[in-house]
Amino acid sequence: MKGLAGKVAIVTGGGSGLGREDCIELAREGCTIVAVDRDKMGAAATARQVSDNGGTALAIKADVSDATSVQAMVKQVLAVHPRIDILVNNAGVVGEMKRVHEVSEAAWDEVMNVDLKGTFLCSKYVLPTMLNQGRGVIINIASVSGFLASNAAVAYTAAKHGVVGLTKQLAYDYGHDGIRAVGIAPGVIETPLTKDWTCAGGPFHQLTMEAPAGRYGRPIDVARLVCFLASDEADFMQGHTFPIDGGSIIR
Ligand SMILES: NC(=O)c1ccc[n+]([C@@H]2O[C@H](COP(=O)([O-])OP(=O)(O)OC[C@H]3O[C@@H](n4cnc5c(N)ncnc54)[C@H](O)[C@@H]3O)[C@@H](O)[C@H]2O)c1
Repeated sequence: MKGLAGKVAIVTGGGSGLGREDCIELAREGCTIVAVDRDKMGAAATARQVSDNGGTALAIKADVSDATSVQAMVKQVLAVHPRIDILVNNAGVVGEMKRVHEVSEAAWDEVMNVDLKGTFLCSKYVLPTMLNQGRGVIINIASVSGFLASNAAVAYTAAKHGVVGLTKQLAYDYGHDGIRAVGIAPGVIETPLTKDWTCAGGPFHQLTMEAPAGRYGRPIDVARLVCFLASDEADFMQGHTFPIDGGSIIR
């Protein structure tokens, strides 16, 4: 896709599921990859997969919910690469599938800290580099839970609504500096995160099968959208979060 060759792309949560596939597809489009994950082995496995396919990737262990760890990660990237062109804020956890009066404060904090604060922190520490360049793209992985209530965990729904809002604000505040911010709202995609859901009788099975696409999503479905949104072909797309859900939330 136009404008991706030679770009440096950081993908958080790059050690598994959607993040891994994003790394592979962005590398296929010519990007140099930085796979960031708190799971060091997962990030390293992704980097290996990218280089086995002929790409270039660096694996960095970092916790997106910790400012010191994020700052160290950005420093490590800049020690190797002169620029950061693309940031995919993908790291996320779901937390407890409970209602407000049942969910623990610690469980609430964990989801907020990873899904929402992690998106804030990675953007915060990457943005100065993008501002210096006068160019950059931030892609936030929200969820259809960023648009509606469901069987999903309460903290997850709240955090992903926050990610949708943060994406708008990033676009609003940095658009005139040459920086684009957009979001993606996947429906249920088959990854390690959803392995207990994607079976008959799972919490989203009926909704998924009755939707127009009639199937669960695959990581490649999302990764191709990531590539498009990161490319120059999406130059007019700003601040919105785009659902990719097989049509599951159209009604
Ligand atoms: N799979 C789906 O159906 C689905 C649907 C909607 C949204 N999403 C979102 O997509 C993103 C990726 O989900 P997935 O299905 O690939 O999940 P996954 O569990 O397969 O991968 C998530 C990765 O994030 C990493 N991670 C978690 N906390 C971290 C932290 N604090 N710092 C750094 N890395 C951390 C994990 O180690 C893991 O490698 C998440 O934000 C999730 O909410 C997924």
